[in-house]
Amino acid sequence: MGIFRFSDMPLKKKITLIAVVSSSVSLLMACLVFILSESLTFPRVMRQNLSNLAQIIGDNSTAALSFNDSRTAQGLLDTLKANPHILSACLYDLKGQVFARYARPDAPQYWPAVVWEEKSEFSGGSVRIFQPVLSGGDRVGTLYLESDTREMQLRMMDYTLVTVVVGVLAFLISLLVASRLQQRVTGPLQQVVDRMKDIAKGEGDLTKRLEVTGKDEIGEVAEAFNTFVGKLQGVEDMKLDLISVVSHQLKTPVAEINGFIENMMMGLTGELNPKQKTYLDEMRAIGRENYRLITDLLSASKIDRGVVTVDLKPVSTKEVVGLAIRDYEVPLARKGLSLELEGVWEGGMLYADRDKLVEALRNLINNAIKCTDKGSITVRALTEGDMGVIEVADTGIGMDAETMGRLFTKNRVLGKEAHRSGAGLGLYITKNFMKQQNGDITVTSEKGRGTCFKLAVPRFKPGEGGRL
Ligand SMILES: Nc1ncnc2c1ncn2[C@@H]1O[C@H](COP(=O)(O)OP(=O)(O)OP(=O)(O)O)[C@@H](O)[C@H]1O
Ligand SMILES: [Mg+2]
Repeated sequence: MGIFRFSDMPLKKKITLIAVVSSSVSLLMACLVFILSESLTFPRVMRQNLSNLAQIIGDNSTAALSFNDSRTAQGLLDTLKANPHILSACLYDLKGQVFARYARPDAPQYWPAVVWEEKSEFSGGSVRIFQPVLSGGDRVGTLYLESDTREMQLRMMDYTLVTVVVGVLAFLISLLVASRLQQRVTGPLQQVVDRMKDIAKGEGDLTKRLEVTGKDEIGEVAEAFNTFVGKLQGVEDMKLDLISVVSHQLKTPVAEINGFIENMMMGLTGELNPKQKTYLDEMRAIGRENYRLITDLLSASKIDRGVVTVDLKPVSTKEVVGLAIRDYEVPLARKGLSLELEGVWEGGMLYADRDKLVEALRNLINNAIKCTDKGSITVRALTEGDMGVIEVADTGIGMDAETMGRLFTKNRVLGKEAHRSGAGLGLYITKNFMKQQNGDITVTSEKGRGTCFKLAVPRFKPGEGGRL
């Protein structure tokens, strides 16, 4: 179990927690201050009330004291029964003798000795006062009253209960409000984070900008992020331009060198000795590989800049396969692989961009040769409903699930495997070209057993000027 750490909490929870804690603490403080002030003022209020009561009883008992009528005085004190908080009461005459007295039945039957001066005290859970009884300005006796503090305790309990209930309710409401409101803060921030992650993974569309919803700090982050993405897009555009210019400039000279090599091999520059032949053979293979790489780079940069155009026309499967397998005789022979063609000669007409379909197929054949050490490579033509299909199956190393997962992306272009097997652009381009021709590419593979790629494009239907 991990230790609870505030810094590890998601922002959503932090904001909610801060809002709930601060509102609960301030509410609690307010309640505490209220209870405290009540507990300070209540004793004063109680004393005052008791003093008022003493005043009334004192005023009513002056006649009884003056005429020594203790029965009337007793009757007066007995009326205190009506007030359940009064514990005891006592009326003293001028000599300090008890004149009449009252005690609540459940209270101790105790009356203190007279105190001459006016006095009130709060102790032992009760309030006591001694108050002179005056008649026309002359003192005629003394009254003692004692009251319990139960009323105060009940009030305090009520306040505490209200505080707890209000506290819980306020906590729940502030939790609800805070969790709603935090979305307004974290929502836009989450957008920025998601976009950053996409871009870091190389999946984000650099032309898209975040919507800036406010002028607060998050708005500033979004704006700064948009500026950053803009700059990144500028760099990306520069990179694409550079690749496209460089590869375009390289394509012609490399093609020319390849042409010269072909001419020399055909003996146009005179008879070749076996060593020269071997060297030229090597040079031709390297030259072709270079040409393929340059073409791939050019195609990929066209795809990325969105300037790929297709020229859809009727084309025969036979022609496409014929063009694609050209040049592979030597690489096949070198690895001792055989090339089988199935259903190709009777394969029907397709509605596709001939050059792009050939390039796609060449990529597949190239891969198959690279990844197969013994056995054969089969190019098979068939039809599936409205689609014409060309399969390239090999008996090679096959692929694991991870490779298959990123097969049609160009993520690996700068990866460490790039040196071993190529630029890693072939299938990315193939997939894109197939989509452009309203077709698709799919793959099945088993590690150690072989792989089968399947290109599908619409079949051509004569008479209706286009696809089947
Ligand atoms: N027939 C196959 N058998 C086994 N693995 C394959 C096969 N075809 C492709 N792969 C795997 O898929 C990866 C990607 O192929 P892709 O054609 O996109 O790039 P590449 O061949 O590495 O480079 P490039 O085609 O740009 O020269 C290959 O590196 C290889 O690991
Ligand atoms: Mg390849």
